Amino acid sequence: MQAIHGFRETEISCWSKESQEILQRVRDTVFPPGVPQLSLVHVLDLDKSGYIKPHVDSVKFCGCTIAGLSLLSSSVMRLVGEQNPEDWMELLLLRRSLYIIRGAARYEFTHEILKDEESFFDGQKIPRERRISVICRNLPVLRASI
Ligand code: OGA
Ligand code: MN
Repeated sequence: MQAIHGFRETEISCWSKESQEILQRVRDTVFPPGVPQLSLVHVLDLDKSGYIKPHVDSVKFCGCTIAGLSLLSSSVMRLVGEQNPEDWMELLLLRRSLYIIRGAARYEFTHEILKDEESFFDGQKIPRERRISVICRNLPVLRASI
């Protein structure tokens, strides 16, 4: 399934000193010391009409925690229970805010970023503009195969 529409993406390992400081603050906030993290940071550039369909990040490639910095535009993220779709919640991701997905939200709920037409929070329109997210993830725990 193609989960993301209207986007460009890249993975960046080399950041300016200023960005590096910000990323380090994010990592120190999100991950306890010593947690192995993906060294490449995922940067997703959604255009105004871009959106992300419901999905759960691959458990093979990504560990228990996903942290995203939302830049340029606010947006609405919806979480929906995989077992019980009536169990859902919407989160207002303000521009320049950080969200952290872990625990049940990571494994038992899908997450999605609503398209502009559907981008409402508490009855209020949250206009979607171009949005860049900077996403840090930790590594999954390796299990030896027998
Ligand atoms: C993803 C994702 C959310 C975001 O890339 O898997 O869910 O904030 N991104 O861009
Ligand atoms: Mn995701």
